[in-house]
Amino acid sequence: MTDQSPKTHPVPNDWDRRGLPAWTYHSDAMFELERDHLFLNHWQLACHVNDIPAPGDWRSFDLLGERAVVVRGQDGVVRAFHNLCRHRGARVVDGAAGHCKGAMICPFHGWVYNLDGSLRGAARPETFGDMNRADFGLKPIEMEVWQGFVFLRFLPGSQSSVAECLQPYNADFTDFRAAGVLPAGKPGFWGRTAVNWKSVCDVDNEGYHVALAHPSLQELYGRSYTDIFHENGLFQSNATYGDRPGRTWSVRNYVALSPLQPWLPPRLQRAWNYYGIFPNTVFIFTPESVQFYAELPISQNETVMSSGLYRQPDETRETRVARYLGNRIDRHTSAEDQQLTIWSNESMKSRAFDGFHLSDLEYGVRRHHDKLRALLPVMRLDHPPPEAEVARINAEMLGKP
Ligand code: FES
Ligand SMILES: [Fe+2]
Repeated sequence: MTDQSPKTHPVPNDWDRRGLPAWTYHSDAMFELERDHLFLNHWQLACHVNDIPAPGDWRSFDLLGERAVVVRGQDGVVRAFHNLCRHRGARVVDGAAGHCKGAMICPFHGWVYNLDGSLRGAARPETFGDMNRADFGLKPIEMEVWQGFVFLRFLPGSQSSVAECLQPYNADFTDFRAAGVLPAGKPGFWGRTAVNWKSVCDVDNEGYHVALAHPSLQELYGRSYTDIFHENGLFQSNATYGDRPGRTWSVRNYVALSPLQPWLPPRLQRAWNYYGIFPNTVFIFTPESVQFYAELPISQNETVMSSGLYRQPDETRETRVARYLGNRIDRHTSAEDQQLTIWSNESMKSRAFDGFHLSDLEYGVRRHHDKLRALLPVMRLDHPPPEAEVARINAEMLGKP
């Protein structure tokens, strides 16, 4: 390899280096538009099919007032429903994950649902007149399983199928045997942070900060880090390690102990690859693990990260040790990023803040913002419109060619 400096491509010669205006990070009206036009109508990652291996196993997924349950039926089929009892709307399952024996029983009045979502029966059915059970099954949610991962969409949207959107990643996911990975830990919800979700993305969508903010990553792979942009807002980063031993404990041991995985093609054997999915999800593949995390907004100034960690079914003891060390590096990275998101988000409230001035190495930030601007053109306004006008102006701008 000749060139050992970080790279980002393709980047145009001349581009607008500004970021989104600060007001878009602190507006309730803006956030309402993002909820309906970005989060609820775009594919969201709920879990992996192997998180729910047996009939009756379920995982929940809540997002901005909507709540889903993904459950495996008696027939082995995975289905997704609104976690909303058809009687009075209680949660039919409660918590992040669990198992129901043969049926889901609503904890409020005891309506019983089969694992395929159909209503088996209401408690005291004679008190409902001539109610037709067939009309009261759990409502299905649009779902697609791709490479073993379960994606949901709460509202109809313009994105094509998950398989089509993520086609550029298909070969790597197949080579990584993503469809067959097993959970390596409990479902995670971590890092509830008082920031707008876009501030988390902004930190995540560039590698310019790695050199200074992530000393361990820089040591591990900083020389080879490369961002690659694909269609549909996909944002991939590749980096390889192993060309030098590393100084810090975790990196030194990880580089020394990470065993070569002969089943992986050479391009993935000594690589950490990141696969970003618009608008809010990232997968991380290392030779030892498959991970994902997603920014799930709660309000315009609060974000929670959901995450999952998976391993290969035939993991050796050596690989398990390397996975532990790799995750240790990754945990430090997350903590470092969290602080950066807080600072970035705070700056948006300062009257002295003049906006971003982005490097070519931060073109990924601009690209993400451009996708957002295309969906929500009101974000193009430099100055905040009155809150009550945001939705109307956005609709008007969308109507313009
Ligand atoms: S709300 Fe579910 S049984 Fe009443
Ligand atoms: Fe980072």
